[in-house]
Amino acid sequence: MKNVREKERLGLGVLGLGEGRSIISAGMQSEMWDVVSLCDRNEELCRDRCREFGLSSYTTQYERMLENPDVDVVGIYTPDHLHADHVIQALDAGKHVVCTKPFIDNLERAKDVLEAVERSACKVMVGQSSRFFAPFKRQREHFDEGRFGEIATIESYYNADHRWFLKKDWARNDSFKWLYGCISHPGDLIRWYLPNIEEVCGYAYLSNNGKALGLKHPDTFHYVLKTDTGVPARVSGTYSSPVVPNHRDSNMSCILRCDNGASQADYYDLRYAYKLDGRSGMETFEDFDGYFFRFGGHSHHAGEYQNYIEYIAHCLRFEELPKPDAREGIVTVAMMQAMEEASDSGSPVKIADLLRRYGLEDLVGN
Ligand SMILES: NC(=O)c1ccc[n+]([C@@H]2O[C@H](COP(=O)([O-])OP(=O)(O)OC[C@H]3O[C@@H](n4cnc5c(N)ncnc54)[C@H](O)[C@@H]3O)[C@@H](O)[C@H]2O)c1
Repeated sequence: MKNVREKERLGLGVLGLGEGRSIISAGMQSEMWDVVSLCDRNEELCRDRCREFGLSSYTTQYERMLENPDVDVVGIYTPDHLHADHVIQALDAGKHVVCTKPFIDNLERAKDVLEAVERSACKVMVGQSSRFFAPFKRQREHFDEGRFGEIATIESYYNADHRWFLKKDWARNDSFKWLYGCISHPGDLIRWYLPNIEEVCGYAYLSNNGKALGLKHPDTFHYVLKTDTGVPARVSGTYSSPVVPNHRDSNMSCILRCDNGASQADYYDLRYAYKLDGRSGMETFEDFDGYFFRFGGHSHHAGEYQNYIEYIAHCLRFEELPKPDAREGIVTVAMMQAMEEASDSGSPVKIADLLRRYGLEDLVGN
């Protein structure tokens, strides 16, 4: 493992140059990073990204990028089902890792990933971008001041018309599941506040639109979750249906209902509203639209990624554990797998039972 504590700027290697475009931009605009290598098996895309960002170093072979001594941290943005292998390869090559969500897409490889983390001594951070988006960050900081009191319940959802995404070959494969790809956003927001989710139940459905486009698994979800102290939460999402306009809905929101107040963070239009001790307030972050959505439109996440790579750079410098780390990320995957099994079976599923089934008992209670 490379000692990066003394380095002024860290070297970033980016694997997967579709959404990886966002972390390239993040690294290019950050004073804490140098983007030193790009990798995609599609060489034309490598050349396009080099041209777009004025870079020259690329490879179509992941192994070559991992041999590059200038790469301190690998950012992984390949299709969901490849994350486990790509994370393990990076760790075994002595690189720190930022892996986009979903960290992995089922628990089959979870133990292998954790063993790789342990033998490497490198750090892994799951790129749960929503935690690093202004309204959700603000909601968390406000809650952490302590005045809202205890959480009575949380509702979080992420609705998006992602039919365009189904043009990608891998999105129509049997391995692709929106449950992991997208419910990972609101699901992670809930576990950020309520890490001790114990049991889940709910329903999932494959809509006519999804079916017509070749999607194999559900695209429409409603689940209820419960912590070990009985606090309930609700998480929902739809991905092949139109969404209502942003002035009425926000695509992704997180609502906290607490003893002394309530708050709601909205993805669109970068809003945060709250009521605390009988007084209400509203903050907007629309001035940061150009920072978060710097490619125009709203389809990439460069600002969130810049926030999280600057956070991980800080953690590496001061030897802190970046969060969510691999253990936290795997329990969130276990929560999503519990949801999948609950809607398949029609019965509630306990996350601890799943963790034990995959030999992950030391994560119970994490
Ligand atoms: N907000 C977020 O955090 C966010 C947003 C969008 C996408 N994502 C995640 O990013 C990942 C990629 O999504 P995408 O939309 O960019 O998909 P994509 O298909 O557009 O891009 C994936 C790229 O990986 C490359 N690739 C695949 N296997 C490879 C290999 N073995 N070696 C090198 N390159 C390889 C492909 O050629 C492709 O260019 C997914 O896991 C997705 O969930 C996260």
